[in-house]
Amino acid sequence: MTRMLDDQRAAEPDPRELRQLVGLVDHDPAGDPFPVLGWDALVWVVGNATQAAHFFVSALGMDLVAYSGPETGNRDHLGYVLRSGAARFVVTGAYDPASPLADRHRRHGDGIADIALAVPDVDRCTAHAAAAGATVLEPPHDLTDSHGTVRVAALATYGDTRHTLVDRSRYAGPYLPGFVARTSTHVRRPGAPRRLFQAVDHVVGNVELGAMDEWVSFYHRVMGFTDLAEFVGADIATEYSALMSKVVASGDHRVKFPLNEPAPGRKRSQIDEYLDYHRGPGVQHVALATGDILAAVDALRDEGVEFLPTPASYYEDPELRARIGAVRTPVEELQARGILVDRDEDGYLLQIFTRPIGDRPTVFLELIERHGSLGFGKGNFKALFQAIEREQARRGNF
Ligand SMILES: [Fe+2]
Repeated sequence: MTRMLDDQRAAEPDPRELRQLVGLVDHDPAGDPFPVLGWDALVWVVGNATQAAHFFVSALGMDLVAYSGPETGNRDHLGYVLRSGAARFVVTGAYDPASPLADRHRRHGDGIADIALAVPDVDRCTAHAAAAGATVLEPPHDLTDSHGTVRVAALATYGDTRHTLVDRSRYAGPYLPGFVARTSTHVRRPGAPRRLFQAVDHVVGNVELGAMDEWVSFYHRVMGFTDLAEFVGADIATEYSALMSKVVASGDHRVKFPLNEPAPGRKRSQIDEYLDYHRGPGVQHVALATGDILAAVDALRDEGVEFLPTPASYYEDPELRARIGAVRTPVEELQARGILVDRDEDGYLLQIFTRPIGDRPTVFLELIERHGSLGFGKGNFKALFQAIEREQARRGNF
């Protein structure tokens, strides 16, 4: 068991790799009112945590590392902790119908309830957040077991989403008190990559019409986040529908939050569809940073993961070919897999989006391979939205 955990730690990207994978920049934390070390975990609430955890292990190549349930004294729900490089997902599902998780799931379906952030000083961050007007859902407190103590607090953000703030510097256990180490018996396919992704790159929130600027301002005031260069204030529109998107990030860009709101268009936008089916604001997608998007997409397809199709016209467009310039692989290789490419002044990125991974047309995943670009694929927004519109039309929601 100890060797397994050591193996996983060794598989975490080193700081130099991480810098390239997720596009970090230099930052002096000295004057930062709300220093953030990075993502602690993305906590999902789902209808069947046992099967969702199996999907993340078998299809996404994650490692099961910890578990909570009746055997560990949890009388409310099951929890599975999954790792891939630096990324940590926690998948939870109620087994007591009186669990608050069951209420959440009935309303929102499968999705991310908590974007937990690692901070060096939970008390200082919470005090700053409260003074800046944030709702403190849980004041700072200790969680302790034989592995040590974790200091946590929780802040409310858009919809029913929360940010748990976590300082685990005095804790040696596999996740949190109440969890025990556990591994999976799943056997990887021969030849499958050891890791399909190495880190969380960004987490996107969908909020109501008119609320985007409010939440951008929330992250400015409460967390000291700043606007990223790719700050798309204008409508991103297709012929039929439109949305607005802005991006805020922590000082070194380790944590990046694009925020979308619908904009009036001739038809219902993908953000409207999300807000209807999710019953309010929430996490739209998680971008997973990979060092080899071609191998990752091949492995995911082999496991039955479905991606948004990209039309041939996207790759045949001479403007696109001129704009993207030289990338690490022939465009034909990208086209065969439906991978999108975008370039800015700093470099380029390759990206692809899955179909929604739950029953509702809400949360989905992105794979992103950065080569210097610090952006989010602005040049692909239109092509991407047209692909989503085709899917919406198939669902009768367009
Ligand atoms: Fe994204």
